[in-house]
Amino acid sequence: MEKVSISTIQFFEDREVELKGWLYNKRSSGKLHFLQLRDGTGIIQCVVFKGDVSEEIFKLCGELTQESAIIVRGTVRRDERSTLGFEIGASDVECVQMAEAYPITPKEHGLAYLMDHRHLWLRSTRPHAILQVRHEVVKACRDYMDTNGFILMDAPIFTPAACEGTTTLFETDYFGEKAYLTQSGQLYMEAAAMAFGKVYCFGPTFRSEKSKTRRHLTEFWMIEPEMAYCDLDGDMDLAEDMVVYIVARILEECSEELEVLERDIGKLEKVKKPFPRISYQQAIDILHKTGSDIRWGVDLGGDDETVVSQQFETPILVHRYPTKVKAFYMKEDPQDARLALCMDMLAPEGYGEIIGGGQREDELAILERKLSEHELPKETFAWYLDLRRYGSVPHAGFGMGIERMITWICGLHHVRETIPFPRTLQRLYP
Ligand code: 4AD
Ligand code: MG
Repeated sequence: MEKVSISTIQFFEDREVELKGWLYNKRSSGKLHFLQLRDGTGIIQCVVFKGDVSEEIFKLCGELTQESAIIVRGTVRRDERSTLGFEIGASDVECVQMAEAYPITPKEHGLAYLMDHRHLWLRSTRPHAILQVRHEVVKACRDYMDTNGFILMDAPIFTPAACEGTTTLFETDYFGEKAYLTQSGQLYMEAAAMAFGKVYCFGPTFRSEKSKTRRHLTEFWMIEPEMAYCDLDGDMDLAEDMVVYIVARILEECSEELEVLERDIGKLEKVKKPFPRISYQQAIDILHKTGSDIRWGVDLGGDDETVVSQQFETPILVHRYPTKVKAFYMKEDPQDARLALCMDMLAPEGYGEIIGGGQREDELAILERKLSEHELPKETFAWYLDLRRYGSVPHAGFGMGIERMITWICGLHHVRETIPFPRTLQRLYP
């Protein structure tokens, strides 16, 4: 008897196997019970025929409840009618635990209810598909970095200072001192890039986002590459290449999941290089043409991003935003000091920003001025200023929010479904 998982069942035709899992669903008629067994890797139908098992086992199968833990033994049979192509002719069924009445039934539940039961909801097909895509996106990001000469440099979670502005910091008590949960590993990656050339970090980041939008989590994961001797154009090249790579990988590896999610993959197939690159000024012009009265100088809001990105079929890169609305570390455009050498990548179909980054200020005097303009404490940034004292070079990088990326790839309405246990303004449970 082989102990197998459902995902490899095609290699065991006509063989005796043992499957360990949970009862997903059940249907009975006279001398037959049809048990839908799920084991985390898939779902398979196990046919229990009265003549093939003891009376006791047949009775037990009749009593099994949804999500009961069961072990099924039997023969793998070809079954052209099922999507899997195989079923199990059961010879033995063992109940490990008889589940209580399961709170998630095949009927419709509201999203708030499902989120309250997220610890159980993870077992259902939709979350399962989304989180499988997440797994593949993360793997693709890492593979991309690792095969393109980037070295992994984990950034700290406890930090003494703000990276992305002070308004969204989570404060903690660090042995009587204030420490903040990191908003971004970027500043540390800049130090690491001067040591290793091309680096990246991938980890959780935290923002005390007071906004209740469908794009914001308070805890999200970001992959952040950083490159020495790189400018804004080189940075945009990397972002574009990486996104094309990830989308292609998901189309190749996750077609079943995308089908479960009813994703229109024609839209994803259009994600090819080159992506249009437009300036902030051009984005403002587009907004004005579509009836917006946005003023030059303000940051693009979520709705503005939606309108601009809807004009294109691939992601776009918007560069050179006004310095005033951007973080202190961004390099001023030598052509126009009102602008920063930064970029955002906006996903198509109205999904908005999935990447933010750009070239970093590499001149000590300008950076010192920026720190004071942003009222940031020079002492906590002393180490960061050092990087401009000892071998400062042009350098650039970006951060890609994993959950935003998955929301777009899966075509979801809300970012909260893309992480196993989302944290938002209103949610800390389960
Ligand atoms: O544009 P952001 O704030 O850029 C940075 O943090 C830079 N320091 C990154 C860098 O250059 N190394 O955030 C980067 C990305 C956004 O484009 C978005 O995808 C995601 O992080 N993001 C969020 N995702 C979910 N919930 C939130 N509250 C997010 N805030 C940003
Ligand atoms: Mg941003």
